[in-house]
Amino acid sequence: MTNNGAKQELYHPTDEVKQNAFVKDDQAVREASYADPVKFWEDRANELLDWYEPWDKAMDNSNAPFYKWFVGAKTNIIHNAIDRHLDTQRKNKLAFIWIAEDGHAVSMSYFRLNREVSKFANVLKSMGVKKGDTVTIYMGRTLEQVIAMLATTKIGAIHSVVYGGFSTEALAERIEDARSRVLVTQDGSFHRGKVVNLKEIANEAVRRSGHVEHVVTLRRTGHEVEMVEGRDFWWHELMNLPVANGSCETEVMDAEDPLFILYTSGTTGKPKGVLHTHGGYQVQVATTLQYVFDLNEQDRWWCAADPGWITGHSYIVYGPLILGATSVIYEGAPDYPYPDRWWRIVEEYGVTVLYTAPTAIRGLMRFGEAWVKRHDTSSLRLLGTVGEPINPEAWRWYHEVVGGGRCPIMDTWWQTETGGFMITPMPTTPLKPGSGTKPFAGVIADVVDEEGNPVKPGEEGYLVLQHPWPGMLRTVWGDPERYRQQYWSTFEKQGWYTAGDSARKDDDGYFWIIGRIDDVIKVSGYRLGTAEIESALVAHKAVAEAAVIGVPDEVKGNVIHAFVILTQGIAQPEEAELKQFVRDEIGPIAVPAHIEFVEALPKTRSGKIMRRVLRATAMGEDPGDMSTLAD
Ligand code: WT7
Repeated sequence: MTNNGAKQELYHPTDEVKQNAFVKDDQAVREASYADPVKFWEDRANELLDWYEPWDKAMDNSNAPFYKWFVGAKTNIIHNAIDRHLDTQRKNKLAFIWIAEDGHAVSMSYFRLNREVSKFANVLKSMGVKKGDTVTIYMGRTLEQVIAMLATTKIGAIHSVVYGGFSTEALAERIEDARSRVLVTQDGSFHRGKVVNLKEIANEAVRRSGHVEHVVTLRRTGHEVEMVEGRDFWWHELMNLPVANGSCETEVMDAEDPLFILYTSGTTGKPKGVLHTHGGYQVQVATTLQYVFDLNEQDRWWCAADPGWITGHSYIVYGPLILGATSVIYEGAPDYPYPDRWWRIVEEYGVTVLYTAPTAIRGLMRFGEAWVKRHDTSSLRLLGTVGEPINPEAWRWYHEVVGGGRCPIMDTWWQTETGGFMITPMPTTPLKPGSGTKPFAGVIADVVDEEGNPVKPGEEGYLVLQHPWPGMLRTVWGDPERYRQQYWSTFEKQGWYTAGDSARKDDDGYFWIIGRIDDVIKVSGYRLGTAEIESALVAHKAVAEAAVIGVPDEVKGNVIHAFVILTQGIAQPEEAELKQFVRDEIGPIAVPAHIEFVEALPKTRSGKIMRRVLRATAMGEDPGDMSTLAD
């Protein structure tokens, strides 16, 4: 998408949308906030949340870039997400509607959620988990996954959720880095009717990493799994023990105490543990969800992500619960057993707001609109997307076919690191398909050149965030230097955060995200580091060297193309064998679509792989300036 003019189509909200909007004049709210972002966030912190004790200082920049928010305040996000609803009518409201892949559903009220969370919190305590310890959670999309997260938080421990699509090495590395002594997993998860053997992967990862003392396993698929005596316990057995009673005090935390670690890919092989804290994060997620998706008591909100990613943490779990909303979770694949699965869920459960990724929209669009049309989707009033730029064609299909032309689409730009939406429309913002419109209230962002000067409208530059925000990551777990280097060194003098994305602004000041400028690839919205995949490939005995790049794909956004140099004297393996090897090490999302065996790789004289040249080769284009090429 290369849009730089302001001349393209503009979609204005309907009168109905305007009347219902929580924020009536988003432009005025944005502008008022830009002058004093700290005050904007402080007002929201007072308005939307309860605090055990107030803060002394809303923001502390004395040790930049290690910013602090709501310094001195006492809180626990669980108090706002669950506890405070229990003395109101909301205790009877559905917190979650969980739908299994086979179609059966479980509805859970706030009252019951509190009981389950408290019971599991007591289980964790009985295993010796204390404030400040980490708990790794490696599960499928189950209610228990969410309960495990909330229980960890309730007792002041730190959760590290590892997406259930990752494999052994990826899990082992994350357990190791977080030094978790407790792992929560399940026997298996369902994917298109087949069982993914999570427990087997977990067992192997525990063997490789060697920190874990106890493993709790949820029985979901019921297939035979290996349980290690003294180490392994069944979820359902623990939850029936007398120790697992339904009352548990919520631990009082400092606003800046760690809430969770979430690993994400960066430019080196080792994934980064992005750290979020209790105080600022809750303000960010609650405010953004309320302003952008307008949630009210009537809503049935469906964020169709996985709780294992930041989207799920912020907008399946914490955000909706803080606002006392009803959040829908679906366990399975969008096209299983038929491509109308999602639209059936919208109809059956009366979903009012749907939030998903462009890749899912493009995937469902392929099946044609008849699958949508056979269901009543008139309950929908707002739509959202996240994860990568949305192409105008998919935008229009989402708008017309899914939303019946009535529902504005909130294209929200943000990152694991930002905690919540940063550049986003609100329901009253005039929309341009493919643009996230403008920085959210309290967010100061721009597009600049290498020196930090704002670029002219239509020109490409670095996307920067020029003022701290409450939901920002606080550090990289165990590696503060990497935090400083990665995010704050490019514009160190100015004290700005670099997102790693390039972008443009148009004549109306609308932002257009172009894509990653670092060695990160987005495949189906998943973020993968080239170095991670390369190191998985070179772990195979036949591979001496590897380089991977992303090449554009109509449905997935990008697919992985790998170039491989073989080890001398070893027979060339089948392409399928190498693919399986990557799948076993990292997981299905990292499997290259193409593997090309080559004699040499284009490198600069300093030894850096010239991915630009590889990309041109893979796509049959002119590689451009080759003067820095060594060979
Ligand atoms: C990267 C962050 C935050 C939730 C999911 C992704 C890309 C994200 C958009 C959007 C264009 C987007 C960026 C960003 N991205 N949202 N609306 N339009 N690009 O989180 O895995 O941390 O990835 O996703 O490249 O840097 P993540």
